Amino acid sequence: TVPLPIPQVARPVSPGLYEVTQRVTRVEILPGLRTEVWGYDGTFPGPTFELRRGEPATVRVRNELPVPTSTHLHGGVTPPDSDGYPTDLVIPAGGHSGHSAHMTHPGEVHHEGTKDYRYPVGQRAATLWYHDHRMDYTAPSVWQGLAGFALVRDEEEDALSLPAGERELPLLICDRSFAEDGSFRYPRTHEGHDSDYMEGVEGDVILVNGAPWPVHEVTATRYRLRLLNASNARRLRLRLAPGGRFTQIGSDSGLLAAPVRHDTLPMAPGERYDVVVDFSAYPVGSTVTLVNTLADGPAGKVMRFVVARRAKDDSAVPTTLSRPPERPVPVTTRSFDFRRTGQSWTINGRVYRPGDLLARPRLGTAEVWRLTSDFHHPVHLHLAHFLVLARNGRPPAATDAGWKDTVDVRPYEVVDVLARFEGYRGRYMLHCHNLEHEDMAMMADFEVV
Ligand code: C2O
Ligand code: CU
Ligand code: CU
Repeated sequence: TVPLPIPQVARPVSPGLYEVTQRVTRVEILPGLRTEVWGYDGTFPGPTFELRRGEPATVRVRNELPVPTSTHLHGGVTPPDSDGYPTDLVIPAGGHSGHSAHMTHPGEVHHEGTKDYRYPVGQRAATLWYHDHRMDYTAPSVWQGLAGFALVRDEEEDALSLPAGERELPLLICDRSFAEDGSFRYPRTHEGHDSDYMEGVEGDVILVNGAPWPVHEVTATRYRLRLLNASNARRLRLRLAPGGRFTQIGSDSGLLAAPVRHDTLPMAPGERYDVVVDFSAYPVGSTVTLVNTLADGPAGKVMRFVVARRAKDDSAVPTTLSRPPERPVPVTTRSFDFRRTGQSWTINGRVYRPGDLLARPRLGTAEVWRLTSDFHHPVHLHLAHFLVLARNGRPPAATDAGWKDTVDVRPYEVVDVLARFEGYRGRYMLHCHNLEHEDMAMMADFEVV
C-alpha cells in the first residue's frame, strides 16, 4: 500500500517572490520502478502555492526541460502577459537542443531560460491549479507531470471554521498509463490521429497526488477535500463506498453561498470540487474508498481512507458560507459550437491559429455564451468566471452550482453560461480542456476590450 503523498508547499525566496525550476527527475510511482517525470521543481504534482487575496505573487519559472514551456494558472484572474498564452514560451535554459525542431507560430514570444509570471491575486479564495499550456504540446507535457495546485485564501474563508491543517487535503486526480520499465506511456505522435488519440488519451491507472490507489489515515472527523480532475481526457464520477455524501462547499472559482450535498460528483478534466467529508459517520477501523463509477478495474479505484481513531472536531460547515458575486445582467449572447470537422476538432468551424479572435467582450460586462457540442467537451474560459444558467434549456444540475471556469458540455447538449469579464483587458482563450483536443487546436482567442 502506498501512502497518499501531500505536495510540498512552495516557499517564497523573498516576500511575494517564488522561484521554481522545471526539470526532469526519476521518481518511484510503481513499486520498484523509476518513472521519468517533468516536474515543477522536479516533482509531480508540483509544489502547492499558498496565495492570499490582495498579496501579489511573482513566480520565476526556470526551464531546464528539453522542451519549451508556457505556464498557465487555471482559474486565475491574471494579466494577459502572465496568463500562459500557448506561444509565449520559456525556452530551455543553457541552450538545450530539443526545441529547435518544434513548430514556430506567428507571433511566438521566446523567453530565454526564465520568465517572471506576475499574479496580482485579487480574486476570491478558490482552488486553482497550474499546468503547462504550450501550443501543440500541452497534453504530453502535462501527462509527463507539469501540473500542481495553487490555493487562494481570503478573510471571508478565514472567518469560517472549515477543516484545516492536516484535515485539508488537495487531491490531484489523474489517469496515466505505464510502459513495462515504469515510464509514462503516451502515444508518440499525434500525426496518426488514430481514434484513441482523436478522442483524447486515457490511462488505465488513476493516480492521486502522483500515487496509485493510495491510502490515507484519517481521524473520525470532518475533512476538506479539494478535488481536481487533472486528467488529460478522462471524465470521473466520484462516489464514496460503502456510502456517504460529499458536502460541496466550493466550485472552480470559490466558495458557494451555501453547502450542497451530493451522492456522486461528475468531474470533467479541469474541474474542481471543494467538498467536506465527515468520517465520523463511519466506524473506527473501517476503510472508506473513493471510487470512479465511470470505469471498472484499476481506473475505477481512486483512493482509500482508513478511519484510525476518534478525535475532537472543532470544524463546522456553516449553512451560509460566503457571498459570491451576484448574478450580473448580460449585455449580449454569443454562440460557440465545439465539433469535429473532418479530422479536426473545431470551434465555430475553425481550427485555431494563435491570434484567431472569436469575441471581443467589454471589460466590466457579462455575456451569455451558448456552448454546443457533438461530443464531451469540457469547455474552459481563461480570466472569466461563469455561472451555468441552463442545460438544454432546463435548469442546470446541482453539481453545476457556483461560479466556475470549466463546464462539461455533453454530446448534443446546449449549455448556457453567464460569464463576467472582469480584471484585465487583453487577449485570453477559451478552449476544450480535453488536452488532446486542445493540442488539435480546439481553442479560440477572445479579447477583453
Ligand atoms: Cu487549464 Cu487553458 O487551461
Ligand atoms: Cu485556464
Ligand atoms: Cu473536446
